Amino acid sequence: MEINQRFLQACRREPVAATPVWFMRQAGRYMPEYRAIREKYTLIEICQHPEIAAEVTMQPVRALGVDAAILFADILLPVIPLGLGLEFAKGEGPVIASPVQTLEDVRAMKPFDAESDLGYVMDAIRILRRALSGVPLIGFCGAPFTVASYIIEGGSSREFLKTKTMMYSAPEVFHALMEKLSVVLSNYLVAQIHAGAQVVQVFDSWVGALSPSDYETFVLPYSQKVLKAAETLNVPVIHFGTNTTTLLPLIKRAGGSVLGLDWRLPLDDGWKIIGHDRAVQGNLDPITLFAPLPELKARVHDVLRRANGKPGHIFNLGHGILQHTPVDSVKAVVDMVHEYSSEQVGV
Ligand code: CP3
Repeated sequence: MEINQRFLQACRREPVAATPVWFMRQAGRYMPEYRAIREKYTLIEICQHPEIAAEVTMQPVRALGVDAAILFADILLPVIPLGLGLEFAKGEGPVIASPVQTLEDVRAMKPFDAESDLGYVMDAIRILRRALSGVPLIGFCGAPFTVASYIIEGGSSREFLKTKTMMYSAPEVFHALMEKLSVVLSNYLVAQIHAGAQVVQVFDSWVGALSPSDYETFVLPYSQKVLKAAETLNVPVIHFGTNTTTLLPLIKRAGGSVLGLDWRLPLDDGWKIIGHDRAVQGNLDPITLFAPLPELKARVHDVLRRANGKPGHIFNLGHGILQHTPVDSVKAVVDMVHEYSSEQVGV
C-alpha cells in the first residue's frame, strides 16, 4: 500500500496536493461499529486489550478515509499506574477514586515506567504500525494542566474551582503535582514514540480556563518540558487547547510544531497571531456536523479559504466529535476537504 505522506508533510509545513484531514475523537460512540464493541467491553477494557484498541483505532480509518489514525486510548490512563484509581461512570464521565489535595498526596503518587506499566498502549501502537500500512499513527497524552485538573477535581469540572483554589492558596502543592506529572507524561510520550507513533498530540483541552499570567506561571514550564521531550526525538508535535485566543502567544512559546485552533477565532486570524513559522490544525465547530450538507460545505470551504492553500494546514474540528454526530456528515467533510483543497492548490 502506498504511504500517505500528506499529513506528515503538512506537519512539517511542506506543500501538499490536498489538505490532510483527521478528527479528534474520530473513534467513538457516534460510530455503530464502536457501539457494538462497547456493548461487550468497558472503555478501560478496550484500552487494555491491544488487539481491540487497534481494531477501534482502525474503524474510522476504514469508514472515513481520513489521512491519519489516532491511537485509541485516553488521556487519563496514566492515572491508573499513578495509583489514584480510575473509572468511567455511566453518564458521569471519569471518576478518580483518590483525588490529590496535599503534598503528601502528591508524594504518594507512584512514578511509573510507561513501557511496562502502560505496556498495553505500546503493544497497541506496535500492532497498529503493521496494520495501518501507510496511514500515519498519532500517539498522545494529556498536558500536565488538563490531567492535573481531573486529578484534583476527582473528575470533570466546569469552573475548576478546586484546581484554581489550589493554585492560589497552596501553590507549592500545585507546582509539585505539575512537576511530577510533567516527568511521567514526558516518559509516556517518549515511550509511545519509541513504540512507533509517528506524530504526537498533547491535549491541553481545558487550559482556556486560565488567564495568560496564570498560564505563564503555573502551566507553561511544565507543558514545555513534555513538548520538548517529544520534539527532541524529531517527530511532529501537535499542541492542542480550546478557548485559547488570549493564550496563543504563550502556547507557541511552550512549544509544538503544530498548534491546534478552536472555532472561536477565524483560522486566518489565529494563524496570524501564532505566526506562519508554525503549522496549524483546525478549526471547524464540531456542531457544524449537525447542520444540513450545504451549510456544512459552506463552512468547510470557509476554513479552507482562510488557510488559503498555505503549507502547514491540517484540517480538523476545533474540538472532538460529539456523540450523536451523523457518520455520513463526517465522511462528507473528508471528501469536501480533499476536493476543494486540491482545486485550491496552485490558484
Ligand atoms: O480521538 C480518538 O478517537 C482517540 C481516543 C480518545 C479518547 N479520549 C477515547 C474516549 C482521545 C484522544 C481521548 C482524549 C481525552 N480524554 C481528552 C482530551 C480530548 C478532549 O476531548 O478534550 C479528555 C478531556 C479525556 C477525558 C475523558 N475521557 C472524558 C471527559 C470522558 C467522558 C466524556 C464522555 O463523552 O462520556 C472520556 C471517555 C472517552 N474517552 C470516550 C472515548 C471514545 C467516551 C466513549 C465511551 O465511553 O465509550
